[in-house]
Amino acid sequence: MSERSNDRHDDHVRDRRVQYETAGLDVDDLDPSPIVMWHRWYADAVEAGVAEPNAMVLGTIGVDGVPDARVVLARGVDDSGILFYGNYESAKGVELFERSVASLVFPWLDLHRQVRVRGSVEVLSSTESDAYFASRPRDSKIGAWASEQSRPLIDRAELDKKFAEVELRFPDDVPRPPHWGGWRLLPEVFEFWQGRPSRLHDRFRYALTPTSDWSITRLNP
Ligand SMILES: Cc1cc2nc3c(=O)[nH]c(=O)nc-3n(C[C@H](O)[C@H](O)[C@H](O)COP(=O)(O)O)c2cc1C
Repeated sequence: MSERSNDRHDDHVRDRRVQYETAGLDVDDLDPSPIVMWHRWYADAVEAGVAEPNAMVLGTIGVDGVPDARVVLARGVDDSGILFYGNYESAKGVELFERSVASLVFPWLDLHRQVRVRGSVEVLSSTESDAYFASRPRDSKIGAWASEQSRPLIDRAELDKKFAEVELRFPDDVPRPPHWGGWRLLPEVFEFWQGRPSRLHDRFRYALTPTSDWSITRLNP
C-alpha cells in the first residue's frame, strides 16, 4: 500500500464517528441482579440480529505479565458464573492456570452497548465439562483432539492429517480429551455501558459486596 493510500486509510479510521441516538439507561431500568440485566440485554442483542451475541473478549494476564485477550463464546450465564470452554494447554489455559483471574467484554456494538465483567476463574468439574462436550457436534469433538491449540503448526496438511486420524480412532462416540474443558468466571464486578449522544454515555457498575449483594454505582462516561 502506498504512503498516500495509507494516509487516507488513517483519516478514515480517525474521523469515523457514530452518533449514539439510542435510549439511555437509568437507575429505574436496572435490575438488582446483574445476571438478570445481562439476560435482558442478551435477549435484545439476539432480537437485533447481533452476530454471535454470546461472543465475548476474554482478557487474561500473560505469563510475562502483559495482558492477553481473545474472543471466546459464553456457554452459560447464571448466578453460579459465566462458562466458557477450550483447550487447557492453550495460551489462555496456561495463563488461567498461573493467574486465575480474568475479564470479559461483550461488545454488542449494533445496540451501542457493552458489558464488562471481572472476577476469578475456576476449572469446571469433569462432570460439567463432559456434559457440555457431549452436546457438541462430532466434528467439533474431533477438532478438540486434533488441535494442539496455540502451539506452532507446520502446515494445514498436518492438521488435516491429525483430524483424519482421530476420525478413524473414534468411529463411534468421541470422548472428551483430558486437555479440553471448561472454566467458570465468578463475577465480582459487572459494568453495563449504553452509548448516548455527545459521548455522554450511561454507565452502571455492579460490585459484589461482602454479604453477596450487588451495590450499584453510576460512573462518569
Ligand atoms: C467468534 C469466535 C469465537 C471463538 N470461540 C472460542 C471458544 O469458545 N473457545 C476457544 O478456545 N476459542 C474460541 N475462539 C478462538 C480464540 O479467539 C483463540 O484463537 C483461541 O482460543 C486460542 O487463544 P489462546 O492462544 O489465547 O489460548 C473463538 C474465536 C472467535 C473469533
